Amino acid sequence: MRGPNGYRLMKFSFLQKLGASVLIALWLVWVSIMVGDLLIPAGEPQAPAGREVVKASPAPSAPAPSAPAPSAPAPSTPAAAPSAPAAATGGPSGEGTVPALLASADAGDGKKIFRKCKACHTADKGGRHKVGPNLWDVVGRAKAGAGGYRFSGVLAGLGGTWTFADLDAFLARPKAFAPGTKMTFRGVKKAADRAAVILYLRSLSDSPKPLP
Ligand code: HEC
Repeated sequence: MRGPNGYRLMKFSFLQKLGASVLIALWLVWVSIMVGDLLIPAGEPQAPAGREVVKASPAPSAPAPSAPAPSAPAPSTPAAAPSAPAAATGGPSGEGTVPALLASADAGDGKKIFRKCKACHTADKGGRHKVGPNLWDVVGRAKAGAGGYRFSGVLAGLGGTWTFADLDAFLARPKAFAPGTKMTFRGVKKAADRAAVILYLRSLSDSPKPLP
């Protein structure tokens, strides 16, 4: 009983093993194809990375030929900076970035930022001078030009008019732009905030100055 049974079982199990191994082989092929499909997209980013490495390698080699002239890369950086507003926003408080930011600035934001200035400045037409001078129509006005206000000698000695760029530099760090100024104000750190407040100052005029 067991003999034939065992034989039959062996026989069936052999056929089953054969069939199963074929199925397993087919399944493994299918799995390897699926895994391969999954791996190919994952591998693709490596290709550009590899290309970047290839690109990067000529870059370090480039300064080598131009090594006698280390000043050569320097002029290219300032030239690129004004043409790239994206890079300008990255700058911590880089001067000269604000004129580029004015286009996207919001005078409404500037009005809010101007609250800091209100402790010392009025901004309405004909407003009185407080600790600081009235700032109506200050953009484009002669520096230290507010009539009836006693400016410090430093500010009076600056000369010229309040251009967007000069306002940017002054508001970034008043004490750096005009050492010894009476304006005891730390400055507006963020270039975007300065652009907004300068845009607001520009609006305080009967004939706002054209944007740079
Ligand atoms: C703590 C008081 C104080 C604060 C705050 C202050 N200022 Fe002034 N500001 C002054 C004083 C004082 C002067 C005159 C400086 C001098 O004569 O040296 C001045 C001068 C100026 C001038 C030059 C005006 C001109 O006619 O030449 C501008 C522009 C100006 N401030 C803008 C601002 C802005 C914008 C803010 C806010 C972001 C601000 N100030 C915050 C006190 C202040």
